[in-house]
Amino acid sequence: MNHFLDISSVDNLQAWMPEIASLKKEPLQYAALGKGKTLGMLFFNSSLRTRLSTQKAAQNLGMQTMIMNVQEDAWGLSFEDGVVMNTSSAEHIKEAAAVLSGYCDALAVRAFPSLTDKAADMQERILNGFKKYATVPIVNMESAMGHPLQGLTDAFTIWEQQKTERPKVVLSWAPHIKPLPQSVPNSFVLAMQAMPVDLVICNPVGYNLNPDLVGDTPVIHDQEAAFAGADFVYAKSWSAFEPYGTLPMVKGNWQIDQHKMKLTNQAKFMHCLPVRRNVVVSDAVLDSEASIVISQAHNRTYSAQLVIQKLLKHGME
Ligand code: CP
Repeated sequence: MNHFLDISSVDNLQAWMPEIASLKKEPLQYAALGKGKTLGMLFFNSSLRTRLSTQKAAQNLGMQTMIMNVQEDAWGLSFEDGVVMNTSSAEHIKEAAAVLSGYCDALAVRAFPSLTDKAADMQERILNGFKKYATVPIVNMESAMGHPLQGLTDAFTIWEQQKTERPKVVLSWAPHIKPLPQSVPNSFVLAMQAMPVDLVICNPVGYNLNPDLVGDTPVIHDQEAAFAGADFVYAKSWSAFEPYGTLPMVKGNWQIDQHKMKLTNQAKFMHCLPVRRNVVVSDAVLDSEASIVISQAHNRTYSAQLVIQKLLKHGME
């Protein structure tokens, strides 16, 4: 029984890069692999890219897809063992996951964090509930603490566009109007730590990511200093890890603009999207030739395709 839950479960991320490139060149080369098989896609939260790129990936492999917006269309789910279900939830994950496993050959799940209960979010209650009670492989389409399909795509996008053997990659916090999860930056950091790049994280004081995940990766609180000589700038907003889910006061302007991009080594600009124009990044940067966000989003299909293909062929481990 194998799953794709976390980027750190990939043994040799670099070795996956030429495989994704091959799928990008010839997306239908394994069109017979998934014939007669079904990918179930369960969304507890909104999505544009993850939903359609994963569906496209499954279709490229010859699979059929079943998609459900769980919060709107399904019964409310309970996740706790031994719970007395006398409130609004009508179905337990035990039955739901087992039933879905009979309809589908793999299940892909999107479930964001609460951002109010760190311990519960770190337990990945929904994702791990499916892992525990389903009898088919589970794919993480963004959970409380990780977005491995995005991290895989980001690693591939840098790999295919890099002009030097060991590019400098800067993950920069950027402003937002509301607290956002740490899932994308978490998976980006893990992906970059597994690739031959020099990663620097820059964020305001108070916005350090989970120290267990950051490890030895340098963290700088001066955005302009971090941008000096960068080959890639990856912008993302996230809320504080401590106090969890908050937006501590930020000094200065952290929006990515042309002035800051000029400090780089003609860096490419990346963002997972959706992005708020002129909040996270200026129009001038997003619309410039340096911006590779559309190509990055298109690459989502091929990275998802490799994940599903590996689940179908060999399993993940
Ligand atoms: N980047 C990303 O996951 O986009 P969606 O939220 O639209 O799926």
